[in-house]
Amino acid sequence: MTQRKSAVILGAQWGDEGKGKIVDVLSEKFNVVARYAGGHNAGHTVIIKGRKFVLQLIPCGVLRPECKGIIGNGVVLDPMAFLSEVKKLKDAGLPVDGQLFVSNRAQVILPYHRMIELAAENAPGRTKIGTTSRGIGPAYEDKMHRSGLRVVDLLNSALLRTHIENACHEKNAIAHALFGTEPLDPKQMYEEYARAAEQLAPFVADTAVMLNDAINNGDKVMFEGAQGALLDIDHGTYPFVTSSSATAGGAVTGTGVGPTKIGTVIGVTKAYVTRVGEGPFPTEDHGVMGELLAKRGNEFGAVTGRPRRCGWLDLPLLRYSNMINGTEWLVVTKMDVMDECAEIPVCVGYKVNGKVTDTIPADMPGFHSIQPVYTTLKGWNCSTAGITEFDKLPKLAQEYLHFLEKESGAKIGMVSTGPDRDHTMTLPEFESTLNA
Ligand code: GDP
Ligand code: IMO
Ligand code: MG
Repeated sequence: MTQRKSAVILGAQWGDEGKGKIVDVLSEKFNVVARYAGGHNAGHTVIIKGRKFVLQLIPCGVLRPECKGIIGNGVVLDPMAFLSEVKKLKDAGLPVDGQLFVSNRAQVILPYHRMIELAAENAPGRTKIGTTSRGIGPAYEDKMHRSGLRVVDLLNSALLRTHIENACHEKNAIAHALFGTEPLDPKQMYEEYARAAEQLAPFVADTAVMLNDAINNGDKVMFEGAQGALLDIDHGTYPFVTSSSATAGGAVTGTGVGPTKIGTVIGVTKAYVTRVGEGPFPTEDHGVMGELLAKRGNEFGAVTGRPRRCGWLDLPLLRYSNMINGTEWLVVTKMDVMDECAEIPVCVGYKVNGKVTDTIPADMPGFHSIQPVYTTLKGWNCSTAGITEFDKLPKLAQEYLHFLEKESGAKIGMVSTGPDRDHTMTLPEFESTLNA
């Protein structure tokens, strides 16, 4: 069987680009959707005919009964969060048994990860990241330190008990010494996790084998990114990043599928940019236009409810994001949010010490010395909400998209004009690639 085109789909900036909606739309053309990084710090919103689902750990493909969902080894899994998400889907009448699988090699988040994160975020002298407080960072720390608990070990009760006893001994002492935190009870923790393990067991599989078998049998796999390229631990705005490989490379290490088996990379970007949490954001708009985007875009975190910072498209950062991901296609979401903008500033370059550059600084002082250089495009000043054909978009909206495409170096494959599954257009060249 010849290999069909599998794809990585990911956020081009700092998350919340509308990946969930786009993965849901595209999953019609795929047999399997696999999450490869992050954990329940993600919040992916899908709206189907007015019915809203927010998925945190479970890939959005499971909303289609014919599509399998896989949580890959690159994910950090909170078993309680996973089970409560499964319950929500079942309560909504969606079948998940036999459709959803969790890697036996995924790392497990434990209560001391959250405890340490919360204490450290607020400790004097620490750089506050503005995390989602889900224990993500400390769980990845343990993974890299080689002292983490994997899903396969969670299912072994003797191993689980010893792991929790030893880990609590160490983590309680550290948290108390550094932050004065009250100790967690290992016995209670073991009982809670042993119960969760029983419910988790039917979902656990060697998902790398499953994914490679699927691809070898001619199935199409979509690798669903969480967060965004600029939150990537290596390539993002460090230290204001998450703790995983959110970029396309993470799809390989986070699932156990080799790079030769992945056909394309699709980046999702809003028509503007948002960021939640701390960290540099060169094109952030603190004025009335930023407020307008926040209001019209309903820019509040799907997980934490925190207001998202809003600003304008940043082409140097988008080009950088496309470069580190090898992005071939772009999906532009939330066009309708800009319907009331009379003018649209777009950052076309950076000025650093009086010189125009496209270089993305690696350090925070470098970011702080950026002065964005803007060009201003005319807004279309009429509604694009729900439009599903490119030719029906107002001419100025078409021009905005052509400009974005030309300057970013990736082809626009889809445009989204509203939150619902139906408020989407797929452009012909992308459509034929998907059908190949
Ligand atoms: P994700 O984390 O990338 O999946 O994105 P989120 O779900 O956190 O945030 C995107 C938000 O924008 C959600 O509330 C979506 O329902 C909404 N959304 C997605 N696409 C569009 C669009 O084209 N127009 C509008 N108005 N909302 C959209
Ligand atoms: P989705 O998949 C937006 C941000 C947090 C914080 C930083 C580190 O919905 O796009 P963490 O809890 O991961 O250690 O926090 O990363 N962050 C996100 N921002 N969307 C996300 O996910 C995010 N996941 C993490 O706000 O700044
Ligand atoms: Mg989100």
